[in-house]
Amino acid sequence: MTVYRIYTYPEKILKHKAKEVRTINGALQEFIDNMYETMHGASGVGLAATQVGQENAVFVADVPDENDRRRIIAVINPVIVESEGVSSIEEGCLSVPNFRIPVKRAARIVIKGYDREGKDLVLEATDLLATVIQHEMDHLNGVTLVDHASLLKREAYLRSLKKQSKSGKE
Ligand code: CO
Repeated sequence: MTVYRIYTYPEKILKHKAKEVRTINGALQEFIDNMYETMHGASGVGLAATQVGQENAVFVADVPDENDRRRIIAVINPVIVESEGVSSIEEGCLSVPNFRIPVKRAARIVIKGYDREGKDLVLEATDLLATVIQHEMDHLNGVTLVDHASLLKREAYLRSLKKQSKSGKE
């Protein structure tokens, strides 16, 4: 198992758009397993391939459902086929440390794609899982949480990053 480096804002690689996966093979499954490992190692609830510098349209998520049961998923080539309602949950991101903002998302979505085994996957999600999925799909489109922030918040965040790098702290 490998734990990947997670790229952080404003690294340009986060703006790359993911490419559709054409072949689901052992190498891709190993990549997904490493994504799980990387997400869990960083105590994240979701991780997109973009965040580890890969261009595969793949994300993983680990979000408890309403009954507090853990739901660990990997989705290849995700597409939203239904969306309704509006929800606004405060979000954080492993690629944007020390930054949290609420983002307006659809409250309920249905996505299609493939699972780790290459089987067709149709998934209905609400609440936190719906938010996490839309957040991860943003990453696959080169969009980060910072892009959802107001100009003022974005500039303040960039200033705080500059200060940190000057003082040599992480
Ligand atoms: Co993120």
